[in-house]
Amino acid sequence: MLHSPITQYFDATEHREAREDLVFAVQNIGASKVAIDCGCGAGADINYLITNGFTVHGFDLEKESIDRCTRRFKGNNLVSLTRASFSTFNYPQASLVVADASLFFCPQTEFKTVWQKIVECLNTNGVFCGSFLGHEDTMASDTSGASKLWPTVCAFEESEVRSLFKDFEVLRFNEHRSHGKNTQGIKHQWHLYQVVARKLQPNANASTA
Ligand SMILES: C[S@@+](CC[C@H](N)C(=O)[O-])C[C@H]1O[C@@H](n2cnc3c(N)ncnc32)[C@H](O)[C@@H]1O
Repeated sequence: MLHSPITQYFDATEHREAREDLVFAVQNIGASKVAIDCGCGAGADINYLITNGFTVHGFDLEKESIDRCTRRFKGNNLVSLTRASFSTFNYPQASLVVADASLFFCPQTEFKTVWQKIVECLNTNGVFCGSFLGHEDTMASDTSGASKLWPTVCAFEESEVRSLFKDFEVLRFNEHRSHGKNTQGIKHQWHLYQVVARKLQPNANASTA
């Protein structure tokens, strides 16, 4: 039986290793270990986080993601799962927000409100770990949709990504470019901004003059 491209994507990513940025982010978290995984997909990051003692609130727009993760983490009371979009999810307070390759697909018109929710749900000293799509990525320009599993994309200039983190201490900021084939076997140019940043105390950046 032929599987849908989304099923193929989840099959290919379910058991991937945690990305280096997430390992680094986890090393920079204090005593409170509560994470939100935005667009949790097949649950690779949830798995890494619970192995490291986190309670994880995962959400995803796709029913298949939530069904898979429900089966995968059945009986594990460290994991709660919700089928929701970036805009409809009710963000609990957290010490870590993970958004790995997922905010790419937040509709542009919703991004500002979604980002505000993400910033607000983070505790002071809480850490954001995630990636943003650059304009040179195939997904940002491919109007045929051939390389897109999710229809809308939200792409950024580097300065726009940096400006999201004015109330944060940026711990890592990397621009990533590479090319190869995606999980559908289609040629792809990747262009991402990968960020790990710690939320500052309120007004820590305000002038005292
Ligand atoms: C490229 S996958 C990344 C999955 C996972 N974070 C990972 O790195 O393995 C993007 C994920 O974002 C989810 N997604 C797409 N649009 C979304 C939206 N508007 N709200 C929430 N999740 C969304 C998809 O269903 C998918 O699971």
